[in-house]
Amino acid sequence: MAPRSLRSLLRGDRAPRTPYGATAPRPRAADGELLLSAEALTKSYAGADGELPVLSGIDLQVRAGEIVALLGKSGSGKSTLLRCLAGLLPPSSGTLTYRGETLTGANPGTAMVFQTFALLPWLTVQQNVELGLEARGVSAAVRAEAAVRAIDLIGLDGFESAYPKELSGGMRQRVGFARALVVEPDVLMMDEPFSALDVLTAENLRGELMELWESGQFPTRAIVLVTHNIEEAVLMADRIVVLGSRPYGTIRESFEVGLDRPRDRHSAAFEELIDRVYRTMTGRARETRLPGRPEGVEADRRTAANTPLPTASVDGLSGLAEMVLHQGGRCDLADLADDLVLEIDDILPIVDALDLLGFAKISGDDLVLTERGTAFAGADVQESKTIFAAAVLGAPLVTLITTSLRQSPEGTLRAGFFRDVLAHHFTSEQVTRQLEVATDWGRYAELYAYDAEPEEYRLDEGDAPGDAPPPREA
Ligand SMILES: Nc1ncnc2c1ncn2[C@@H]1O[C@H](COP(=O)(O)OP(=O)(O)OP(=O)(O)O)[C@@H](O)[C@H]1O
Ligand SMILES: [Mg+2]
Repeated sequence: MAPRSLRSLLRGDRAPRTPYGATAPRPRAADGELLLSAEALTKSYAGADGELPVLSGIDLQVRAGEIVALLGKSGSGKSTLLRCLAGLLPPSSGTLTYRGETLTGANPGTAMVFQTFALLPWLTVQQNVELGLEARGVSAAVRAEAAVRAIDLIGLDGFESAYPKELSGGMRQRVGFARALVVEPDVLMMDEPFSALDVLTAENLRGELMELWESGQFPTRAIVLVTHNIEEAVLMADRIVVLGSRPYGTIRESFEVGLDRPRDRHSAAFEELIDRVYRTMTGRARETRLPGRPEGVEADRRTAANTPLPTASVDGLSGLAEMVLHQGGRCDLADLADDLVLEIDDILPIVDALDLLGFAKISGDDLVLTERGTAFAGADVQESKTIFAAAVLGAPLVTLITTSLRQSPEGTLRAGFFRDVLAHHFTSEQVTRQLEVATDWGRYAELYAYDAEPEEYRLDEGDAPGDAPPPREA
């Protein structure tokens, strides 16, 4: 069954239903009312070598009616600050208040959406959503009714009795949203809620969330969004707070966004703000696109950590590109999925891969081949390998493996090396999948070879790509 989109719900004639009546009544905060405040907040973690300072001198206010993005590089303390604001971590010093009252434990006015969804696999969608209320001592009947409404609001009706493993990543995150929204928090806290999703699903969910926020049907008065994605921050936030991490997390600068919604990411004002934020985060100007990089891939901001490779094989992405080429280079995504008797979600990783490699773009509901993608789809094996080898440099993990091998004296490196690097950012299952994809792509491009015994990558110093038959995994 296809999920109902929030857009279709919003277009419908449903009356706004607030409040759920599930939590203790709280007067609705007027726009501008101070909800959360941190003053001179510091936070240290206890480490083997004593205290590890993570946040220092943080002053931050969150008011009703605003979306605040906390932006910063990995390790700058974004999640730590969010958890402090949610009352899940006590600050080491300084004060934290919610609606003027000092926090002494979990913040009653917040609910959290996590990057990893954090659903309980043995509970159904409905039960997972009800969890948020159970913890607040709400009666079973009220819980059930409120959960149904939150599930409906977030476009999940029909999925109440499904288990998380039956759902795609995007649908799981909808459950994450429903579970947070069901308690009607004053402030919705989101810790990188879209970063575990493929590009298209993330884009869709982000758009739907913003429409819901704009529509006035959102049962929350403010949002704090943690992200390391500048574009996401500029797209969504009213205020962007940049955290710096040297020597430890402080607020480096705040930006008022002030762009009209819905925001046009191609407008000069949007681009200009991205540049300013980028300079603050990195201390240098944003480079223009590198020559030879795939069009549309902002390679200067991609790393193996923030741009996981979509789970798509070279066979899969060539096949889909060929299908689109046969239909004139442009194809409605839903029709494409129908033709393959698949759900759109099933082909998204492949679509994502085509986008990452600069082979295709999404335009409205259509997947459109780029010039490079058209050449790739129409080429014979030899040519397609050459085109692929140039494009695959837009895939950060493939570039990481290639450059590391070039720097290693023997031109070989154990897979364990890359596992360790990736383990900082991914679960071991994700690491395995990332390396499988990188192995497939790098082999096809003839950048490197991989020996399963003894799990080692080796520079492919043979001829140029295309001169040998592709060594492919079964
Ligand atoms: N429970 C903990 N105990 C000790 N150190 C921790 C703990 N949690 C986080 N840290 C450290 O605190 C620093 C900030 O971590 P935090 O997770 O808040 O950063 P972040 O900005 O959210 O990073 P990311 O973008 O990778 O999620 C890091 O150096 C991290 O290793
Ligand atoms: Mg974090």
